[in-house]
Amino acid sequence: MELRAEAEDDWWEVEALYDLCFAPGREALSSYRLRDGVPPVEGLSLVARDPGGILGGAIRFWPVLIGPRRALLLGPVAVHPTRQGEGLGGWLIRESLGRAADQGWSRVMLVGDAPYYGRFGFRKLDGVEMPPPTNPERVLGLEIVPGAWAGLRGKVTRGA
Ligand SMILES: CC(C)(COP(=O)(O)OP(=O)(O)OC[C@H]1O[C@@H](n2cnc3c(N)ncnc32)[C@H](O)[C@@H]1OP(=O)(O)O)[C@@H](O)C(=O)NCCC(=O)NCCS
Repeated sequence: MELRAEAEDDWWEVEALYDLCFAPGREALSSYRLRDGVPPVEGLSLVARDPGGILGGAIRFWPVLIGPRRALLLGPVAVHPTRQGEGLGGWLIRESLGRAADQGWSRVMLVGDAPYYGRFGFRKLDGVEMPPPTNPERVLGLEIVPGAWAGLRGKVTRGA
């Protein structure tokens, strides 16, 4: 498997992978309201392909704001069902978070399963409100810069 930055030509193939991996209607999720009309963050979205060029997994990031503070919204991330459980998801997440640190981002958030994302250092964010309906238990954050989430509360809005 090889990881590389998602290119324009990858877009629809990645969309098809997400359609396969998520329940129908994924775009009705509240997190998509933060992505509407905003391009993903350049250089952080990655695709994983095998030596034959077959897409095995993908991750994307969007910019968001909590008040005036910038954060990265991680996701969607998905691994093809035939490739799951082999560490590809973890690789995509760790590699992209490393690139986010290199780009100077200080905090990352997502809506997802704490038992999975906890292994990467994500913890529940208190008082950070995603557009409804979102289960607050699934709103998780990671500090790239120590203390980056400390005391940060409020509504998450679209970034640019
Ligand atoms: C979640 C996903 C990206 C993980 O990718 P992956 O390549 O299978 O993950 P890895 O191989 O790095 O890690 C596998 C481990 O994560 C665990 N795991 C996977 N999904 C999990 C979840 N939702 N909750 C808790 N643990 C989970 C597996 O049980 C496995 O555990 P182990 O290491 O103890 O054996 C992939 O399973 C997927 O695409 N799922 C469908 C789409 C999805 O749910 N995306 C995430 C949205 S929140």
